[in-house]
Amino acid sequence: MDLDLSGKHALVCGASEGIGRAAAHELALLGASVTVLARRAEALQAVVDALPARNGQRHGRITADVSQTNALADKVGALAGERRIDILVNNTGGPPGGPVASATADAFLQAFTRHLLANQALAQAVLPGMQAAGWGRIVNVVSTSVREPIQGLGVSNTTRGAVAAWAKTLSREVASQGITVNNVLPGFTETGRIAQIVGDRARNTGKSEQQVADGMKATVPAARFARPEEVAAAIAFLCSPAAGYINGVSLAVDGGRMQSI
Ligand SMILES: NC(=O)c1ccc[n+]([C@@H]2O[C@H](COP(=O)([O-])OP(=O)(O)OC[C@H]3O[C@@H](n4cnc5c(N)ncnc54)[C@H](OP(=O)(O)O)[C@@H]3O)[C@@H](O)[C@H]2O)c1
Repeated sequence: MDLDLSGKHALVCGASEGIGRAAAHELALLGASVTVLARRAEALQAVVDALPARNGQRHGRITADVSQTNALADKVGALAGERRIDILVNNTGGPPGGPVASATADAFLQAFTRHLLANQALAQAVLPGMQAAGWGRIVNVVSTSVREPIQGLGVSNTTRGAVAAWAKTLSREVASQGITVNNVLPGFTETGRIAQIVGDRARNTGKSEQQVADGMKATVPAARFARPEEVAAAIAFLCSPAAGYINGVSLAVDGGRMQSI
């Protein structure tokens, strides 16, 4: 199986911690040069310093806020002009929780800006290079809520559905150019995001965080949370040459939690 990404350049967003950081690591292990993007320069530099580098791999970082669409497009467009970006991992922090009935217009606008508009700006920055090369990979880190909305994550559920529809549409537009667009749907994964969700649920229910976490794990057939590198492995595989005929899919990495087939 051809998993070799030597000579490829990947841009991994939301990579200062969590699933994005783990994805940067897996892609570097497969031989890619990786540019990591997030808001915190110091944390990003620590990620760059820890990435495996051999055979001339050149890693770097971009400090950017995905909610600033125009500045994001300018920065990534400049990078793509200097060094073609062959692989784009669209990823950022998840929207705050809460029921959809009381969600504000501003909460929707913020979530759509950080997820949908950022993905669109990033894709537009990298696609010309991918089209010229006749090869490219775009992987969007979304959520199992694409298929089964999660109670208490109203704005997130809504935004994820839009991202999945966007990705499916794009996948069909660029498939004949050697470019694939896929989604990875993480289940409960041990990162800052899951700690935030557990903390919110504990505060809202009066349960301890341990009780909340145990209750969540009880809904997972695997009976545990995922490690970030388990989600990252799926991302890296979809970016590999071996995955060239997998396009427009939403791959759940959820320990079997979703009920739907
Ligand atoms: N963990 C789970 O259980 C789980 C389950 C389902 C779905 N997901 C989804 O998967 C994605 C990644 O989750 P995660 O658990 O890895 O999250 P995380 O640990 O909270 O990491 C989020 C990353 O995104 C970056 N980020 C946040 N806001 C940003 C912004 N405005 N501009 C640029 N970068 C930004 C953060 O870096 P900076 O702070 O340095 O910017 C960080 O590197 C999220 O969409 C999350 O909702 C996670």
